Amino acid sequence: MSHEHHHHHGHGDRHGAKQPERFDPTRAARLEDPERLTYLPVEDVLELLDAPRDACVIDFGTGTGVYAIAIARARSDLRIVALDEQPEMLALLRAKPDAARLGNLEPVGPEAVATLRGCAQRILAINVLHELGDDALHHVGELLAPAGRAVFIDWNADADRPVGPPSDHVYAPVEARARLEANGFRVASAERLFAYHFALVATYRSAPAERDSTPDSS
Ligand SMILES: C[S@@+](CC[C@H](N)C(=O)[O-])C[C@H]1O[C@@H](n2cnc3c(N)ncnc32)[C@H](O)[C@@H]1O
Repeated sequence: MSHEHHHHHGHGDRHGAKQPERFDPTRAARLEDPERLTYLPVEDVLELLDAPRDACVIDFGTGTGVYAIAIARARSDLRIVALDEQPEMLALLRAKPDAARLGNLEPVGPEAVATLRGCAQRILAINVLHELGDDALHHVGELLAPAGRAVFIDWNADADRPVGPPSDHVYAPVEARARLEANGFRVASAERLFAYHFALVATYRSAPAERDSTPDSS
């Protein structure tokens, strides 16, 4: 038995996730399917992200960085932190020539979460919400700067899809909204629908005034 504690590789921390298994790195090639950029165009993601100039943006669960790279390229003013908990995924991202060329793209592992707390004006999470446990969801919130916004884009269980996980592994928009709201997020507006995805934009309970209504139980 190893003395190392790869706690992020355990299953216990996925409590609350809709999909019981985490993404299998042997399926990483699917993330490179160019079709993705037609049914979930980078331009629309950029528009939803609406990142202020020079903002720090975390791509939470970046995988092989398909969207992180495209965004870093389109917005050289942004600092794009490409975060993934699986070293296999980060290795695939780092092996891409673009990843090295783009000075504003930083691939990082979960150990960076502690130092990045409160730093992100925007967080992007594409096809990640359904595999996040409650703990990870709170990490997303804690990474946000005050008044920062998280953009959750995920496979829509209500959509008739030839691609993506089975419907019972992903959320309908109404379920995703409820899950986010149960975990301290406030969803800003109606969801945006894509062919196979929904997008929800949310803030986290960072405003001190909101704490008045949730007394500290400790
Ligand atoms: C389906 S892939 C999507 C990758 C990328 N967002 C994209 O759209 O191409 C989900 C990724 O989220 C990562 N992930 C899941 N839970 C995570 C967590 N708690 N922290 C960091 N990364 C996580 C997985 O390792 C996997 O690479």
